[in-house]
Amino acid sequence: MKKNSLLVVLLALASTAQAQRTAFLPGQPWPDNKGTHLNAHGAGALYDQGRYYLFGEHKIAGPKGNSAQVGVHCYSSKDLYNWQDEGIAFAVAPEGSGSEVEKGCVLERPKVVFNKKTRQYVMWFHLELKGQGYAAARTAVAVSNKPTGPYKYVRSYRPGAGQWPLGYKEEWKQPAPGEASLKWWTPEWRTAVTQGLFVRRDFTPGQMARDMTIFVDDDGKAYNIHSSEENLTLHVAELTDDYQGFTGKWNTIAPAGHNEAPAICKRGGKYYLLTSGCTGWAPNAARSFVASSIWGPWQQLDNPATGPDADSTYHSQSTYLLPVAGKKDAFIFMADRWTPKNPIDGGYIWLPLRFEGDQPRLRWADRWALSAFDQPQPKAVVAP
Ligand code: DGJ
Repeated sequence: MKKNSLLVVLLALASTAQAQRTAFLPGQPWPDNKGTHLNAHGAGALYDQGRYYLFGEHKIAGPKGNSAQVGVHCYSSKDLYNWQDEGIAFAVAPEGSGSEVEKGCVLERPKVVFNKKTRQYVMWFHLELKGQGYAAARTAVAVSNKPTGPYKYVRSYRPGAGQWPLGYKEEWKQPAPGEASLKWWTPEWRTAVTQGLFVRRDFTPGQMARDMTIFVDDDGKAYNIHSSEENLTLHVAELTDDYQGFTGKWNTIAPAGHNEAPAICKRGGKYYLLTSGCTGWAPNAARSFVASSIWGPWQQLDNPATGPDADSTYHSQSTYLLPVAGKKDAFIFMADRWTPKNPIDGGYIWLPLRFEGDQPRLRWADRWALSAFDQPQPKAVVAP
């Protein structure tokens, strides 16, 4: 190659190469290694053999992009700031194939975990069948031998079919007189929800499963936590040893609390759950909970967000709490800034999650780095 042509090639390469990032810039466009804004919405992350893998909904431009047109996009990174495009890890089935995961279905909040027994990567996501809006309320599973895929579809579920939750009383197995006509949001109605109004309704077909996350505990047991009962109550359901099905052991969390977008972490033997309220694509104030057992009881704490825009979680909705490898009790709060008119533009809010005693805390930062976790945890503010 002549000297001049070599120079042209080098200059062209230099202009496409992305400057290496050394910090998180919440809410700013986040280019991948090719300079394209990350396309991984409702994401979760996996740390595997020294690399992080990010999995999220691949969105397209225009309102059609709120349903799945492509599948689940995967990126990988060594440092969490710079992400390499690994392509589509799970592809929707062709239009007209009749598959549950056919193009045009709703596929949200994919989460991938590794199963040490089967040596397989297991992806779960919220699935709504094409043309049925959000009525199907299913949770679905796909598997792969490699973190980046391709993931092969296994099946979908309504969890808990034919199984009562833990601690469910005998007298709650039959409808209470007049319960069907109770006015929503009244104290009597809340009691009826707690005593199984919707659990009974869905006992035979299985419980609804919309917004979801997966959590693997220190003992290797995994759980699917999802919004159920018309998004009124969260359910936690134990997965089988291969992480591809349900054992039938499950429980409710915050009955009638109207929570979605669950994101969970474990610290000092306690479980911390962050959620949002239910306002569609519009943001609202986050909620937080703590429990000593995944089965509860769960104690509701405060809105974890502080400062300006805390009431809208900085215009975002939680999707995952990412444990930072090699740093004790360091979790990144991952959230979405949805843009439903043009879903591909959706932004990412990643912030360090800190703890004031038991209270998870978020503070806005325009720019921050992992060294933020080396600072001491903030002190609890005691009311005068
Ligand atoms: C809020 C959920 O958290 C999202 O995942 C999505 O299901 C939207 N609702 C749809 O309105």
